[in-house]
Amino acid sequence: RVLILDFGSQVTQLIARRLRESGVYCEIVPYNVDPARIRSFNPRAFILSGGPASVTDGNAPRAPQEVFEAGLPILGICYGEQLMCTQLGGEVQGSDLREFGRAWLDVKEPCALFRGIWSPGAREQVWMSHGDRVTRLPPGFRAVATSEGAPFAAIADDHRRFYGVQFHPEVVHTPHGAQLLRNFTHSIAGCSGTWTMAGFRASQIRRIREQVGDGRVICGLSGGVDSSVAAVLIHEAIGEQLTCIFVDHGLLRAGEAEAVARTFRDRFNIRLVHRDASDLFLSALEGVTDPEVKRKTIGRLFIDVFDEEAHKLGGADFLAQGTLYPDVIESVSFTGGPSVTIKSHHNVGGLPERMRMRLVEPLRELFKDEVRALGRELGVPDDIVGRHPFPGPGLAIRIPGAITREKLEMLRRADAIYLEEIRSAGLYDAIWQAFAVLLPVRTVGVMGDGRTYDHACALRAVTSTDGMTADVYPFDMGFLTRVANRIVNEVRGINRVTYDITSKPPGTIEWE
Ligand code: XMP
Repeated sequence: RVLILDFGSQVTQLIARRLRESGVYCEIVPYNVDPARIRSFNPRAFILSGGPASVTDGNAPRAPQEVFEAGLPILGICYGEQLMCTQLGGEVQGSDLREFGRAWLDVKEPCALFRGIWSPGAREQVWMSHGDRVTRLPPGFRAVATSEGAPFAAIADDHRRFYGVQFHPEVVHTPHGAQLLRNFTHSIAGCSGTWTMAGFRASQIRRIREQVGDGRVICGLSGGVDSSVAAVLIHEAIGEQLTCIFVDHGLLRAGEAEAVARTFRDRFNIRLVHRDASDLFLSALEGVTDPEVKRKTIGRLFIDVFDEEAHKLGGADFLAQGTLYPDVIESVSFTGGPSVTIKSHHNVGGLPERMRMRLVEPLRELFKDEVRALGRELGVPDDIVGRHPFPGPGLAIRIPGAITREKLEMLRRADAIYLEEIRSAGLYDAIWQAFAVLLPVRTVGVMGDGRTYDHACALRAVTSTDGMTADVYPFDMGFLTRVANRIVNEVRGINRVTYDITSKPPGTIEWE
């Protein structure tokens, strides 16, 4: 087990992912974590992340002194290296020679971190992002590599097993970075690397049984990856003590509601309440055009209906949620000030407060791709495990302007054609998310000999790793025109198709 102290780097999560990929369990905590929590975690080693602050600044964040006194190996990355130097008696200064992006590392001396990858004399590509640099090493340290902007680009105190790197081994732009981290965790810290999904499955099942006892659990199922995997895992642990509630808000894609019911009831034998609440949702949304009002209306109703169904079941002791690790990492922010709400997500928050039940969150230590691996381990069908994310408010936020049943039907048909073509071209897994949006614009067209005056539809497809940033997927023109032709020919009411080429930022993935 390794504890990662987060100083606010954009890429701290990648450190955790690289460690877990090599079979080492780790958690990320804010840099100012309570020392008692460090002790109870009982780590074998620490990693100090990068961060945007400057250690030359008087009130820059520091690591608890206990970390340096625990007798455990430490790896400081970027800001973490500078901080380690400062806290142990070295010196760091601002520098005019900043290094951002690709840089070259000159390996000077052998080092346990470099075992099997880099030897003295080698020149290696690494990824840097720093302005400050270490100018004097603390006692006990030696420089093992340099770069143009950093005379102490990699440092080592072999006796205390303290190491520092100015570059970022966790990003893919540092080739062999993963091996460097593995050298630290496996060879230096002695981690065995035996953390696997099969092990996680077994230990979570034990934990769920212990937590729940003979209590009753309800779980909101959406058909998405997270709630599906959580439900199957919990069902494996406690069987009939689990009931899933599937609130169908009438804003799902073609065939989706039926597929959810079929999969969970018939295939997994999970007790399932399928509530068709589409009339309720659609009438509440009548005439609503403001995106935030849509989101809030759906969020509020969802909780009402869920609560009602839970009451009908006679209540429960626990509420299960498919919360993931990125949702629970206490993010470190140095920007001060309140952050701006871009969109209110309806499925995070709200429910637990209202239901006043204890939570069962068996996925809260996992990243999305780990949830997928767990799903496969549990036999959840590929079409669920590999599914693109789908927003809680569903198609409502893919129909800018007022929502009607007629528009929903048009959108479902266009979306189904688009996804069918993506699947048959073998592109589904290369895309983070793809969907159609029905625009509130009507344009003139000509079909046969007649004039049409119908809706326009936009296609969206992006690549992303976490939904925070995204790039447009570069379809070839032949593919796009094929989809456009099919949609215009097969979906009555749509006579024009456009492709959205906006990245995020400045756009968002969804249109509302
Ligand atoms: P945006 O549109 O903000 O979306 O770039 C980022 C990711 O979040 C999804 N999304 C949601 N997911 N409830 C969800 O569970 C929501 O209310 C919601 N809104 C957006 C979106 O599909 C994309 O994957």
